[in-house]
Amino acid sequence: MGNADKVKTIAVLTGGGDAPGLNAVIRAVVRTALGQGLKVWGIKNGFGGMVENQLVELTNDSVAGILPRGGTILGTTNRDNPFHYPVVRDGQVIYEDLSGQALANLRQAGIEALVVIGGDGSLKIASEFYQLGLPVVAVPKTIDNDIPGTERTFGFDTAVGVAAEALDRLHTTAESHHRVMVLEVMGRYAGWIALHAGMAGGADCILLPEIPFSIDSVIAKIKERQQHGRQFSLIVIAEGAYPQGGEVSVSRIVEGSHEKIRLGGAGEKLARAIEQLTGVESRCTVLGHVQRGGTPTAFDRILSTRYGVAAAECVLEGAFGNTVALQKDRIIRRPIDDIAGKANNITADNELLRAGRSIGICFGD
Ligand code: F6P
Repeated sequence: MGNADKVKTIAVLTGGGDAPGLNAVIRAVVRTALGQGLKVWGIKNGFGGMVENQLVELTNDSVAGILPRGGTILGTTNRDNPFHYPVVRDGQVIYEDLSGQALANLRQAGIEALVVIGGDGSLKIASEFYQLGLPVVAVPKTIDNDIPGTERTFGFDTAVGVAAEALDRLHTTAESHHRVMVLEVMGRYAGWIALHAGMAGGADCILLPEIPFSIDSVIAKIKERQQHGRQFSLIVIAEGAYPQGGEVSVSRIVEGSHEKIRLGGAGEKLARAIEQLTGVESRCTVLGHVQRGGTPTAFDRILSTRYGVAAAECVLEGAFGNTVALQKDRIIRRPIDDIAGKANNITADNELLRAGRSIGICFGD
């Protein structure tokens, strides 16, 4: 495994929830690999397409014009895991290990190495395939920025920009109506989007999954502002934030997904509680998938391109079993196993969190 001279044909797939910049990564992988004489296949619809043998050859024409496009030209899913794959037997859905079938499909097409662009769930699957002997290189993706070992995942900058703009818009209407506006953003276990967007958008309270909040502390902040003549407040809450002694707000369960729980509703609950306790009219906006869609920022396009080139270079050098990552503005390589299945949360000593506290933002504690 890992003899670069022998790798002539590779495949690339995108797995998990989409993120702005996926197409830019695909374009960079394809262009770099084709430039070195490799043949490149795209696997459609994530790891499900590997089991179902959904392959499409990628050429320079296939990736022309996709740099600024959101989504992924290959399609994706955050459900399918070849090691635990849904099949219907006697009218019943059961889960089987079809990793062997997935590997056989690649072998049959002459694919010798795989580039996986994905988040936590996809990295775990990539790591399992690597352990089975498939030469794999991974690119960390998620708007949540919660993958360890890298200072940034692509898509995060775009999501933060969208959320910050939403806050600017909520600011003017909050001020006109003397209301409390709550913005619920994505972030299940890590509040990076909430923290960065809240700082950029001038939020008065930022509530994170890492800091269970006290409703009293939020109310105290709203009242303090009122005493200073500010009759409105802006609150950003991550979907995974929860009150002290309480629980996260679950909106649905997605069977077959590696992370079955989908969160939602924390913002609405908070707005209702604030209205009840203060008498101030409060509204909640849930930004949801708007954060994941649309064109990537210039930063994300550049980061995605650097990641894609670096992943293709790993393949060309036979440096398999690695994830590309960003550290101190340099692209580095980290073993997938150092990263898959681990968390990247905001810690108490986080510089931006401390800066927020210094300028009087309430973090609910
Ligand atoms: O992990 C990325 C993410 O966008 C989370 O922030 C969010 O909770 C989840 O995916 C939503 O997943 P789905 O696309 O299944 O609704």
